[in-house]
Amino acid sequence: MPITSKTVACAVIGDPIHHSLSPDMHNAAFQHLDLDYVYLAFRVQKENLSETISGFKALNFCGFNVTIPHKEECIKYLDEVDETALKIGAVNCVVNEDGIFKGYNTDGMGALRAVTEGGFELDGKRIVILGAGGAARAIVFTFAKFAGKITVLNRTFQRAKRLVEDILKTVKIPIIAKKLIYEDLKAAILEAELLVNTTSVGMYPHTEETIVPQELLHEKLTVFDIVYNPPETRLLREAKSVGLRAIDGIEMLVYQGAEAFEKWTDKKAPIEIMKKTVLKSLKKE
Ligand code: ATR
Repeated sequence: MPITSKTVACAVIGDPIHHSLSPDMHNAAFQHLDLDYVYLAFRVQKENLSETISGFKALNFCGFNVTIPHKEECIKYLDEVDETALKIGAVNCVVNEDGIFKGYNTDGMGALRAVTEGGFELDGKRIVILGAGGAARAIVFTFAKFAGKITVLNRTFQRAKRLVEDILKTVKIPIIAKKLIYEDLKAAILEAELLVNTTSVGMYPHTEETIVPQELLHEKLTVFDIVYNPPETRLLREAKSVGLRAIDGIEMLVYQGAEAFEKWTDKKAPIEIMKKTVLKSLKKE
């Protein structure tokens, strides 16, 4: 579909942005469904965030994604924020609803879908979360609706503590913050059924890094790594090598994108096309 005077625009903003796979993924989906939409990527610095969002509104963008480091900061420039995104404290998807820019968070649902479609049932399970950034917030908030217990371990303890205090305002299950040290990691993993890495450890170009020593991977554990470049991180490779179920970050990337796509277009997202496109783009890098 060629770009015309009627083409509807959407985008992703972040800093840095040039490694984002969202433009490839969304444009392939638009083309597949013959939709007159285009998805662009813009590197936006913090001091230009307000003007960028006003500009998108003036140009009647149908919406946009927000990525690192603006997921929390962007909230103050939006007209409305959905209740879940507000509780999480981060927005990764904005929708133009009749001229009103409303913020949502599709990261948590993306992760939930990745885990359940990966064959893991969350109900009553004990979960270990590595990291306490924006992605961890969305995942802890969403998984806490189903899980039995969550332990959040982070290099910077205060950040884990703050995350847990915020989330405990709205959920009732035990959620515990710990500093990321070997003894606490070992104890938490030993009693858990799901381990989630939300940190950037293992991401390209540091692909040989992992937070979890292989000897802590026991047979009752499922491992989910939200890093998608490479799709098979060292953590997942080691989990698979001892026969564990391993869920990669491609799934979450695609499902959070699919939810945004459906909000912008009111059409069902072509999941398989989106997944194939992401894998193809990663190979080209
Ligand atoms: P996102 O929004 O994607 O979650 P973020 O807010 O930058 O990104 O959070 C990154 C997470 O990865 C944080 O939990 C960070 O730990 P700190 O809070 O201590 O900074 C974690 N992280 C990044 N590099 C790490 C490393 N080398 N070892 C352990 N944790 C790391």
